[in-house]
Amino acid sequence: MEYTTNILPPTKEALRLAAGALRRGELVGMPTETVYGLAANAYDPSAVEKIFLAKGRPQDNPLIVHIADLASLDGIASGIGKTAELLASRFWPGPFTMILPKSEKIPDCVTAGLDSVAVRMPSHPVAAALIRESGLPLAAPSANLSGRPSTTEARHVYDDLHGKIPYIIDGGSCDIGVESTVVKVMDNKVLLLRPGAVTVENMRELGIEIEIARAVETPLKEGETVLSPGMKYKHYAPKAKVVIVDGPIERFASYVRFHSDGHTYALVFEGEEASIPVPTLSFGHSDNSLEQASHLFTALRAADEKGASCVYCRCPSKQGVGLAVYNRLLRAAGFEVVVL
Ligand code: TXA
Ligand code: MG
Repeated sequence: MEYTTNILPPTKEALRLAAGALRRGELVGMPTETVYGLAANAYDPSAVEKIFLAKGRPQDNPLIVHIADLASLDGIASGIGKTAELLASRFWPGPFTMILPKSEKIPDCVTAGLDSVAVRMPSHPVAAALIRESGLPLAAPSANLSGRPSTTEARHVYDDLHGKIPYIIDGGSCDIGVESTVVKVMDNKVLLLRPGAVTVENMRELGIEIEIARAVETPLKEGETVLSPGMKYKHYAPKAKVVIVDGPIERFASYVRFHSDGHTYALVFEGEEASIPVPTLSFGHSDNSLEQASHLFTALRAADEKGASCVYCRCPSKQGVGLAVYNRLLRAAGFEVVVL
C-alpha cells in the first residue's frame, strides 16, 4: 500500500491521530531520546509484519517492545527477577533495553520466535505520550531502511520511509543519537549485547556483574551462533565505503591524502578539520563521547548526501559512551580498521 507520509508536529491532536492509526494496525515514526523508532501495536501480528516489510528487515531479527509504565510489563514479560528490577528502577525510563522471558501474549513475529522479549521504557516525552495515548505496548525498531544508519531527525525517517507509512511525529533531533543499551539479564549477571548511553560503568556501580558479548567489538565467525540476531548484519552503513583509521592525527592526514580519489571524505573530531587534506565531516570533540554519539549517524547520512565514495574515520575512545560510538562505527565500516 502506498501512503502519503505526513510529518506532524508533536501536538495533542497529532498524538491522537497517530495513536488512532496505531490502534488500526498502521505504523508511526516516533521520536525517542536515542533514535527515531518505527512503531506498531506489539500485540497485532499483521501490524508488526508491516514493520519488517517497510524496513526490508530480515524476519529473524526481533523487535524491542516499548512501554510507558512498569505495570505494562505484565502482558509482555513472564517474570522479572531482582537484577532486572534493580536495573529498571535505576535506568527506566531511559536508553536501556532488557531481554526478559517472554509472555505468551506477545506474538512470535515480535521476538522472531525466541522465548525472550526485548523491553524498553523510553524517556522521550513524545514517545511516552504516544504509548499512553494509544494504550498499547509499541514494537519499534529504529526507523531506517534495514542496514542504513539509524534516523535521528524526522527528515531522515521521511527520506527512508516516505510512501510506506502514514505518519511521522517530529520531535526534533534525538538527544543521544545512538540506540539504547541492550542487555540480557541472567540471575545475578548481565550480558551486554549492544552498548549505548547507559554504560558498563553505570551498571557496575550497582554492584552487578557485567560480561561484554564478544560480538560488541569483534566480527562473528562463520556459523557462530548469536545471542542478539541484530549483531549478524552489516549495519548503520551509508552508501559510501567506511574505514576506521586509528592513529595520531598527522598520520591520519597523510593516510587520507595518499588514499584520496577526489570523492573521499574524512570524519574527524571537532577542531581537526584544518589539518585534513580532503573535505571533512565532524562528529564532536575527541574527548566528548556523548557529542560524538549525537552526531555520528547524521554525519554518515551527510556523507551520502555529498556523494562521498569513501569516508575515513578517526577512531573514537572505547570508554563509557565511547564504546557505543565505536561499536556503531565498526559495523558501518564492516569491521575494517586500519591501525597506523
Ligand atoms: O534505542 C533503541 O533501542 C531504538 C529505539 C527506537 O527504541 N530501537 C532499536 O531497535 O534500536 P532495533 O530493532 O534497531 O534494534 C534492536 C536490537 C537488535 O539488535 C535485535 O537483534 C535485539 O535488539 N533484540 C531484540 N529482541 C531481542 C531478543 N529477544 N534477544 C536478543 N536480542 C534482541
Ligand atoms: Mg536498528
